[in-house]
Amino acid sequence: MCGIVGYVGSKDSLDVVLEGLRRLEYRGYDSAGVAVLADGRLSTAKKAGKLANLEKELAEAGLPASTIGIGHTRWATHGGPTDRNAHPHVSADGSVAVIHNGIIENFAPLRAECEATGVEFSSETDTEVVAHLLAAVYAETPEGSGRLAEAMRTVSRRLEGAFTLVATHAAEPDTVVASRRNSPLVVGVGEGEYFLGSDVAAFIAHTRNALELGQDQVVELHRTRGVTVTDFDGASVEPTAYTVDWDAAAAEKGGYDWFMLKEIAEQPQAVADTLLGRLGEQGELVLDEVRLSDQDLRDIDKVFVVACGTAYHAGLIAKYAIEHWTRIPVEVELASEFRYRDPVLDRSTLVVVVSQSGETMDTLMALRHAKDQKARVLAICNANGSTIPRESDAVLYTHAGPEVAVASTKGFLTQVVACYLVGLFLAQVRGVKYADEVAAIVEDLRALPDQIRAVLSSMDPVRELARSLATEDTLLFLGRHVGYPVALEGALKLKELAYIHAEGFAAGELKHGSIALIDQGTPVVVVVPSPRSRESVHGKVVSNIQEVRARGARTIVIAEDGDDDVLPYADHVIRVPRTPTLLAPVVTTVPLQVLACEIASTRGLDVDQPRNLAKSVTVE
Ligand code: G6P
Repeated sequence: MCGIVGYVGSKDSLDVVLEGLRRLEYRGYDSAGVAVLADGRLSTAKKAGKLANLEKELAEAGLPASTIGIGHTRWATHGGPTDRNAHPHVSADGSVAVIHNGIIENFAPLRAECEATGVEFSSETDTEVVAHLLAAVYAETPEGSGRLAEAMRTVSRRLEGAFTLVATHAAEPDTVVASRRNSPLVVGVGEGEYFLGSDVAAFIAHTRNALELGQDQVVELHRTRGVTVTDFDGASVEPTAYTVDWDAAAAEKGGYDWFMLKEIAEQPQAVADTLLGRLGEQGELVLDEVRLSDQDLRDIDKVFVVACGTAYHAGLIAKYAIEHWTRIPVEVELASEFRYRDPVLDRSTLVVVVSQSGETMDTLMALRHAKDQKARVLAICNANGSTIPRESDAVLYTHAGPEVAVASTKGFLTQVVACYLVGLFLAQVRGVKYADEVAAIVEDLRALPDQIRAVLSSMDPVRELARSLATEDTLLFLGRHVGYPVALEGALKLKELAYIHAEGFAAGELKHGSIALIDQGTPVVVVVPSPRSRESVHGKVVSNIQEVRARGARTIVIAEDGDDDVLPYADHVIRVPRTPTLLAPVVTTVPLQVLACEIASTRGLDVDQPRNLAKSVTVE
């Protein structure tokens, strides 16, 4: 959360910074601000609300022309989303401008220390202390090249918590410096120009050459000296260079009204890309990038899947598949809970952390805890080079391409598919599935992109239904077996996008209390398993539909093509293609995404940037 951009080069810095902020706005949109440096003076503009508010103000007032600047889009933590609390924060003497992503946990004593020297604070943020400290430390740092970076190192050593900080100083017309601990930051290297971004989307329109930064590092971007990286003690560090494999078009809306619609439409390709190169000629799985030896994988006697939000729902689906295919017990846990309850872990535990962004702080902390306990950690992640895969023992990238809409869609489907790959790979390596059984499931996986395409081509009735639901104030979602996490995901999508109260239930559990919520006309969405599913789960769900309908519910049923058993009890039927039971979530989730998106649009809401949320939550 919070998007950060920095630039030194020859272009107009305000243009570059604003363009970067537009691409990073999904990270937070409580306020936005910029600072540029021209003729030895810092000029700032900042505004509460979305970036558009700041752009409007800049169109009226403008800033001096400059080729060096920083910018920030905020997801509020300390201090409300006001103009005053917007970044950049400027030191009392006007010499330093700072932007920040993260939380400085020891800001209170540092603030008291600054106030004791007579500094008056102008915001309630934790960030402002850095501006004042940096100005004071800079003044005491010997003159010479690298002075601002040296001051930043000194200040960083005093900070506790998580931070990416980017700063400029009025006396340094060619330098932007940044410091990183536990929050994301990447460097872009162009022709005579240098960029900083919370992720590569910030500078992808200018360069695809990027540098990865490690923890506790300070980077200096200098117009002529280029990029210099050190640790917090000043020891020089060689950053890892890589080429970004997205292009700018991938981060644009491509003609859709919302990024979310574009990302929903991209799902067949995204799932195909997750499978690409991983399905061998002989129907075997090839996961070369899983850097765990076959022996390590054979030694595993327990799996935890740990994640947050939508990724947690992917984990819930993974449990059904991994346990069924491997017979290894699987526990699924919210990262924010896992970390603090002292879970039983050892060398023979595999912890699968699932994160689209690779930067979610709760998940990162869970990962570190698992590693401290000597567990093996495998990351399923979309953002290349992000912190979570870097700190894991092994990684499986989902290759879904950039996901910009805050509510995850293609990120989720590809996480589910990657979880299937992990489960099947474990089964293959451990020899609990014969080669022909693995090959049969691989064939089923190959069919998924076309099945998603089929769902997407028949969404008009779902959109129409959505418009009729837009004024409801409650929707319930039911499912059994893998349909249960799909129901949870359908409810989450509706809550986050449309601000409608929605709850997902295990269909069999509803009768144990929550069925009391059902009133005349209450819309209930039911995810029905295949009639070919094991142990007549299908028949039980059909009974559950009858139970809610008998109590007045308006039933919206997602059922497989040809399943006519549901017809007598369904007010609306949404059809999905026949899919093997364990893989069904990859198709049954799609209509729920479309439903939530259309309801939110009909209610006139911002689908891509729902209130109070951020895409990548980098605080605990
Ligand atoms: C935030 C987002 C959710 C997302 C969750 C986990 O809360 O709003 O949409 O599911 O983070 O994100 P991750 O990047 O770890 O998958």
